[in-house]
Amino acid sequence: MTTTLIANGTVVNATGTGAADVLIDGETIAAVLAPGSTLLGHDLAGSVDAVIDAAGKYVIPGGVDAHTHMEMPFGGTNASDTFETGTRAAAFGGTTSIVDFVVQYPEQSILEQYHLWHEKAAGNCAVDYGFHQILSDVQDASLTAMDELIAEGVTSFKLFMAYKGVFLSDDGQILRAFQKGADNGAMMMMHAENGAMIDVLVQQALAEGKTTPYFHGTTRPWQAEEEATHRAIMIADLTGAPLYVVHVSAKQAVAQIAAARDRGLNVFGETCPQYLHLSLEDQLGASSEEWGDFEGAKWVCSTPLRSKHEGHQQRMWQSLRTNDIQMVSTDHCPFCMKDQKEMGIGDFSKIPNGIGSVEHRVDLMYQGVVTGQITLPRWVELTSTTPARMFGMYGKKGVIQPGADGDVVVYDPDGHTSIGVGEGRTHHMNMDYSAWEGFEIDGHVDTVLSRGKVVVDGGRYLGARGDGRYIKRGLSQYLV
Ligand code: URP
Ligand code: ZN
Ligand code: ZN
Ligand code: ZN
Repeated sequence: MTTTLIANGTVVNATGTGAADVLIDGETIAAVLAPGSTLLGHDLAGSVDAVIDAAGKYVIPGGVDAHTHMEMPFGGTNASDTFETGTRAAAFGGTTSIVDFVVQYPEQSILEQYHLWHEKAAGNCAVDYGFHQILSDVQDASLTAMDELIAEGVTSFKLFMAYKGVFLSDDGQILRAFQKGADNGAMMMMHAENGAMIDVLVQQALAEGKTTPYFHGTTRPWQAEEEATHRAIMIADLTGAPLYVVHVSAKQAVAQIAAARDRGLNVFGETCPQYLHLSLEDQLGASSEEWGDFEGAKWVCSTPLRSKHEGHQQRMWQSLRTNDIQMVSTDHCPFCMKDQKEMGIGDFSKIPNGIGSVEHRVDLMYQGVVTGQITLPRWVELTSTTPARMFGMYGKKGVIQPGADGDVVVYDPDGHTSIGVGEGRTHHMNMDYSAWEGFEIDGHVDTVLSRGKVVVDGGRYLGARGDGRYIKRGLSQYLV
């Protein structure tokens, strides 16, 4: 068992900041002490195996990214990060836990898929991982399996109002699944976009020769998101199930969530860094020498990036301050341009949907601290504490306190990274481009510990494949 002292830093929890030393014994935080504390008269720094000097730095709980899709089969291909490459990239970015989605496609058995995802992840992950379950075939066997999965630590279930024939559930199916969630305490997650409206708009756009990535954005308008968000809230209200709306990008959807919360409902919203930093015009509408107007494919994801002229980003940052939106996850679903995104040249609807950001979430959210949009404790709350509470991991994850897992990041507020690709490549995700290329990041992840082991230090990876363990989650600790 190794003992480590992280000395002289400023510990930041969701509840506040303070100068403190953090003592880790084996895999667990043993004590959070006044700086320079002694143990039975002995200098603590002289009694431990390793000392990490965090002077001038923030000491924060490891990031929890509650929305990833490692090696997900989707859009005729597989997300390009495996559990191995994706969780290693997460570690580089200060994220020490992920919650990934087990996929059920129509006619598949939930339990078989759940075991398959364990086979993909076991022995391969760099950091700890849990699972949500996607439900695409709501029938009796699936509903019964929900109870079994909860006993296995899968306590949240995602349904889709879009992607007909692939993921989409109709309102009756959603109602049945939500009734089950109300009964067994599961968190019901919703991809809230009106798929029928979108499918018609996509066909009309393509028929008019509007085939470039920009039209991915215009054919998934905010009305489709607002309507679906409202409908999901009504089904949650009717059944009593808690509802978590994933990847919210439209300010009108935020308003629906805020109104539901004002009525006292257990309704929560998640946004993603792309909706806080990127736009329809600047990214989906981009062109380059290499790709022409297909450049925008790099940012095709759903819900789509919104217009910068409509105030979505501003409302999203505001909602993070007011807690109208509680969560920031990446929805990490990377595809390379070569051979993957390329499938949609000449038809944007064939571009696999997804952006890779698992490595950058902690940094990208820190930019909100730098620009004064959020406070330091709120940064930690958004990147670690709330995801841990929302998905039943809090106490072990999401906080620096005795008894918690030794998942700790030493963050340098004076550090800087220019995100780049090619020669100056600064990311470790298995992607041939970066959705964040050219971004100037103030602050820097210096050292990352996962259950007491230093896995990243000074840009070097010191962990090993298989360090990460399955997190058997409990029910949400965020419900009112
Ligand atoms: O474009 C996205 N979001 N891809 C991942 C699948 C999903 O809907 O979350
Ligand atoms: Zn989704
Ligand atoms: Zn997703
Ligand atoms: Zn640094």
